Amino acid sequence: MKRISVIGMGFVGLVSAACFAHKGFDVLVSTHDPKKVEMIHAGKAPFYEKDLNPILAEVVKKGNLRVIAGRREAILDSDITFIAVGTPSKADGSIDLGFIKSSAKEIGEALKDKDGHLVVVKSTVAPGTTEEIVKPAIEKYSGKEVGSDFGLCMSPEFLREGNAVYDTLNPDRIVIGESDKSAGDALEEFYREFYGEKCPPILRMSLVAAEMVKYTSNALLSTKISFANEIGNICKEFGIDTYEVMRAVGMDHRLSPHFLRAGVGFGGSCFPKDVNALIHKAKEIGYDPTLLKAVMNVNEEQPKRMIKLLERKLPSLKGKKVAVLGLAFKNDTDDIRESRAIPIIRMLLDKNVRVSVYDPLANENMRSIFPDIEYCTGAEESLRNADACLVVTEWEEFKKLDHEFDVMKNKVVIDGRKVISSREGIDYDGLCW
Ligand SMILES: NC(=O)c1ccc[n+]([C@@H]2O[C@H](COP(=O)([O-])OP(=O)(O)OC[C@H]3O[C@@H](n4cnc5c(N)ncnc54)[C@H](O)[C@@H]3O)[C@@H](O)[C@H]2O)c1
Repeated sequence: MKRISVIGMGFVGLVSAACFAHKGFDVLVSTHDPKKVEMIHAGKAPFYEKDLNPILAEVVKKGNLRVIAGRREAILDSDITFIAVGTPSKADGSIDLGFIKSSAKEIGEALKDKDGHLVVVKSTVAPGTTEEIVKPAIEKYSGKEVGSDFGLCMSPEFLREGNAVYDTLNPDRIVIGESDKSAGDALEEFYREFYGEKCPPILRMSLVAAEMVKYTSNALLSTKISFANEIGNICKEFGIDTYEVMRAVGMDHRLSPHFLRAGVGFGGSCFPKDVNALIHKAKEIGYDPTLLKAVMNVNEEQPKRMIKLLERKLPSLKGKKVAVLGLAFKNDTDDIRESRAIPIIRMLLDKNVRVSVYDPLANENMRSIFPDIEYCTGAEESLRNADACLVVTEWEEFKKLDHEFDVMKNKVVIDGRKVISSREGIDYDGLCW
């Protein structure tokens, strides 16, 4: 069995490492952060992800997953290194490849003393990055040549936060971009061993095509959401329930029912960042991506529409109390990156509203952005004496809310995710239905 090292201990890196170890591979992860080392040794992830902690505890106990401080040691003591570091956005929307570059340098320096290693880029990177940035950096710092001395692949990750363990163990397909045939063969062999009989289809292609698959996938999913939101905004004006419309539309075998739920828009660490990076990359080569720009524009407008709808119901917001239910960018995660709750709370504060919030998991993370708003331990506490309620995240527990609305001063409820059932006694309105 091949020995694996993983660079980057976020959602992708840690979940992949834990799942590889769960299937019996010897996995090394490295971090310079002693707090993270301590947590992982105790079988606890530094972030919330369903089903991850039991697997971590199991693989750490068995010794299949080891956390060490030295990256060089992790690379030298393994056969395959997966790069799963963050690739955030810069202020202009382009991709920040700082972590990718430093990882490539560290791998190159380690490979000076080793041949036959396979390096796999799992992070989402712009087309051309693996060939034009990762490959030359490893070659420069190792003095070795791709193809003859080491192999290089790009294998994008498609997991969903909140279902990351399940998705890692049950992907729809595996994409392998390869520097050369033997690198692709080695990675395919690893995946076949990892998935065994349940191995999904494996698609082999060039490095740049694999990078483009991931961007295209996220761009199409984001486009579906913005499309559903635009149709929802039109439906709202006609008094039509867009959910009824999309249910019928989604049954067409040429389409799919997924990602057609209209609402307050998409957030998270991937969709906005990847669509913006693709827009930026397209402009760099002289193409103006009008459709992708519109996808982002619709997404930016949805939170504003929510505030406008609120102002139609409460014309003077100054001094009012508004409860915001849901802070995470989606349910089943504590991740608030690019959450639609952020622009919504910011707009409310700009209008001198008293904001009281509740999220089952993400209160603490939001505190770093808005330290001075009221954080509540339950929906009812947040709703007490509120003049209005905005529902921003589709948490399962919000679907059961009922008598909790009774404690509101003014029972105006605007639902951005279609999770609340309209009931007598509340002034319920959907954002785009
Ligand atoms: N989160 C998702 O749902 C998801 C899904 C598919 C793909 N991706 C992509 O995978 C990549 C990682 O995403 P994530 O959500 O896991 O990110 P994350 O921000 O949760 O984690 C990134 C990790 O990399 C670490 N890191 C940064 N630089 C490092 C370095 N030089 N050496 C070692 N560690 C370093 C950070 O400390 C952090 O732990 C990104 O490119 C992202 O777009 C993410």
